[in-house]
Amino acid sequence: MVKICGIGAGYVGGPTMAVIALKCPSIEVAVVDISHSRISAWNSNKLPIYEPGLEQVVNQCRGKNLLFSTDVEKHVHEADIVFLSVNTPTKTRGLGAGKAADLTYWESAARMIADVSKSNKIVVEKSTVPVRTAEAIEKILTYNTNSKGIKYQILSNPEFLSEGTAIQDLLNPDRVLIGGNQCPEGLQAIQKLKAIYAHWVPEDRIITTNLWSAELSKLADNAFLAQRISSINSMSALCEATGAEVSQVSHALSKNTKIGPKFLNASVGFGGSCFQKDILNLVYICESNGLNEVANYWKQVIKMNDYQKNRFVRRVVTSMFNTVSGKKIAILGFAFKKDTGDTRKTPAIDVCKGLLGDNACLSIYDPCVIEEQIQKDLSMDGVEFDHPVHLQPMNSTMVKQVSIVGDAYEATKDAHGICILTEWDEFKNIDFQRVYDSMQKPAFVFDGRNILNAEKLREIGFIVYSIGRPL
Ligand code: NAD
Ligand code: UGA
Repeated sequence: MVKICGIGAGYVGGPTMAVIALKCPSIEVAVVDISHSRISAWNSNKLPIYEPGLEQVVNQCRGKNLLFSTDVEKHVHEADIVFLSVNTPTKTRGLGAGKAADLTYWESAARMIADVSKSNKIVVEKSTVPVRTAEAIEKILTYNTNSKGIKYQILSNPEFLSEGTAIQDLLNPDRVLIGGNQCPEGLQAIQKLKAIYAHWVPEDRIITTNLWSAELSKLADNAFLAQRISSINSMSALCEATGAEVSQVSHALSKNTKIGPKFLNASVGFGGSCFQKDILNLVYICESNGLNEVANYWKQVIKMNDYQKNRFVRRVVTSMFNTVSGKKIAILGFAFKKDTGDTRKTPAIDVCKGLLGDNACLSIYDPCVIEEQIQKDLSMDGVEFDHPVHLQPMNSTMVKQVSIVGDAYEATKDAHGICILTEWDEFKNIDFQRVYDSMQKPAFVFDGRNILNAEKLREIGFIVYSIGRPL
């Protein structure tokens, strides 16, 4: 029986390993993590992450061929294939701070593999890493291994799932990418990993490349996706200035088969743990290679995203007669997108801090994000690079200006304005007449996700601002 060990039980490690276990009953899958609280949550009825369909997959396999454990060394020692899905955040200090990937977790996992291994292993990079990281990991493994004669093959197998649709993405991926050394042993390792995915992924969707192409393709993938959002968001600013409507523009673009329909939704800005981090990582790699023009090109994607978030805050303040001081503003949605409780780099953090900076009182409701998380996010200083968002963490006065409530009606009662910051489906079904009746007048709606019917809201009496649409 092939044994797999997945190191890192987070948003990627948990769901990917669970789906491998589901689709490959003949493979034993152990998911390990240094975080005891995460592992005990994976072993409980309340999983540590919210992801539609995940619970069913875990319930089908846990206790059969899927286990979660903090005994990292034991399971790495026993495994034939080790997947590394540890976090690779942006460095906050030292060389490359604010841009380069922090590979501390990565390196400590690699050193541990070298320490405990007594047999040959395939080590699979699942985390998103800078191009040529496989070279570094190979050196760490070969220089530190305790048992003579052990051979490692490193593969790059980046993950392309999106949060909120992770299980669907994993069950039906548009492609699986495997990069490896192009020597006979490397090619053999590629075939072994390919055979695992072939249990459920059609062969023509499994792409194999050399190591560096696979590593770089992942960074390029996220950069291209984020670039599309920044591109349509840049158009949204022009739409507001000219009377064009961004949804009509994106619809027209989407019908061009050379452009296609996805990732053309204008918004308050993109969020999530990866887009900004991975572009910064790309920028740093370009700069390190003397490619400053290329670096500057990609930086613009982040600058446009910051501009969009700032623009949104500016619009709220200017529309409300240039002052939000002491006014209650309802924030509907805090997660970085719907169907997840994840708030990493959510645009809501920047918008809330911007409004708090102008002394607004915020009443925040999100169906999936817990109060402690929101307070923590607003209390932390963000990592900045050379872009013009200077948002301070909340001070003690601001803490009193924030309340986190249990539903949209409570959040909007007596409010002067509403900001929609996440596209949760339930916000479309709110009784806006009831909301309007309970609000201060004039009552404003700022739809940062363009999910509401602006015309209907105007008929009720709201002043409505949507992204990329004339007032
Ligand atoms: P995460 O923070 O949710 O999970 C990482 C886990 O690794 C944590 O639970 C942490 O405790 C654990 N860990 C760290 N060092 C460890 C060690 N030495 N031994 C054992 N466990 C260790 O992160 P994530 O969102 O799952 O992302 C992981 C990687 O996957 C990142 O490189 C990210 O860029 C990439 N990625 C993420 C997504 C996504 O949607 N979140 C999608 C594709 C790729
Ligand atoms: C993204 C990529 O889509 C995945 O392919 C990738 O694997 C993953 O990053 C990763 O490497 O972490 P994710 O961040 O989970 O996935 O979610 P997306 O659906 O890409 O949304 C990212 C952000 O962009 C969200 O804030 C979303 O609201 C925003 N967005 C998305 C828009 O503003 N407009 C769009 O048209 C699409």
